[in-house]
Amino acid sequence: MKPRIFSGMQPSGGLHIGNYLGALRNWTQIQYDYEPIFCIVDQHAITVYQDPQELRERCEQLAALYVAAGIDPEHAAVFVQSQIPGHVELAWIFTCATPYGWLGRMTQFKTKMQQAESSQESIGTGLFVYPVLMAADILLYQANIVPVGDDQSQHMELTRNIAHRFNALYGKTFVVPETRLPTVGARIMGLDDPTQKMSKSAAGPNHAVSLLDPPARIKKLIGRAVTDSQPAVRWERPGAGVKNLLTIFQSLSGWSERQMESHFAGMRYGDLKRNVTEMLVSSLDPIQAKYADLMANRDHLRRILRGSAERIAPIAEATVRLAKERTGLYSA
Ligand code: TYM
Repeated sequence: MKPRIFSGMQPSGGLHIGNYLGALRNWTQIQYDYEPIFCIVDQHAITVYQDPQELRERCEQLAALYVAAGIDPEHAAVFVQSQIPGHVELAWIFTCATPYGWLGRMTQFKTKMQQAESSQESIGTGLFVYPVLMAADILLYQANIVPVGDDQSQHMELTRNIAHRFNALYGKTFVVPETRLPTVGARIMGLDDPTQKMSKSAAGPNHAVSLLDPPARIKKLIGRAVTDSQPAVRWERPGAGVKNLLTIFQSLSGWSERQMESHFAGMRYGDLKRNVTEMLVSSLDPIQAKYADLMANRDHLRRILRGSAERIAPIAEATVRLAKERTGLYSA
């Protein structure tokens, strides 16, 4: 049997190229070496308020994007978290086994807390326990490998710690999963500020390229991307903005370091940006076309989600049964 991989994304707004290069593209490339399960994590999304109708719509949009980007639904399971009740059942069991202090140390929580405080928003408790739900997502399927971007590394360490702790308390129950980062593109930075990770919540209009952006917008965004005061690429020591553009190109092209160097060393920034724009447009064009087809046939999309959920439900049920038995929860 092939090792199992599990990963997921939040249906909170469109995907940007950071999500694509850090995770989705990697999934499409490694899917056939594994038994893949890809989730749309709507229960994570509601840790901050979502418009109900929009949320449901975004789940289907995200499913369409997974498939449009190259996930093969005949081979991989593509489903929505809420379709399988085991995620929340296991999350509660883990919440009880997770020391409070472990969650307080999560940097993503601390950042979101600061953002919310400065905008005077109230913070749902779900935001605090969010990483426990993420651990449940993964351990529910006894996944061996979790392909994610670099910003999820700390949550992955927590997941491993929860698995170890549960196993130590109740006997070996869970596979302790490994994190798999892409070799290039694990952390794509904001185009308007290359010191900050590209993120959905960043508000600036020139921050991110979305997977569904038309060519003219991509051209504008890359044209405005922050570089530095040098005129051309200093290959040995590129500034953060230039390095980010080179990373985007390398990740999309699959070029080696040597190919990159011989093509880009000394290249003027205007030409660099033209290269990156062309590479992005030609890479995203087929995804956008396939996405439009999939969204025009909702029945097909819903069949994929339903079929996948049915296929993986027995794995989740078996794990929940075992976890309940180990912890002494009652089931007659
Ligand atoms: P989310 O929805 O924020 O991001 C989805 C994936 O995109 C990656 N990513 C990036 N990679 C490179 N550069 C960036 N700038 C960038 N921004 C985002 C993320 O690392 C992620 O792989 N907690 C998760 C969702 C989740 C999950 C899971 C993931 C819930 N349960 C179980 C794996 C396994 C999240 O919010 O990802």
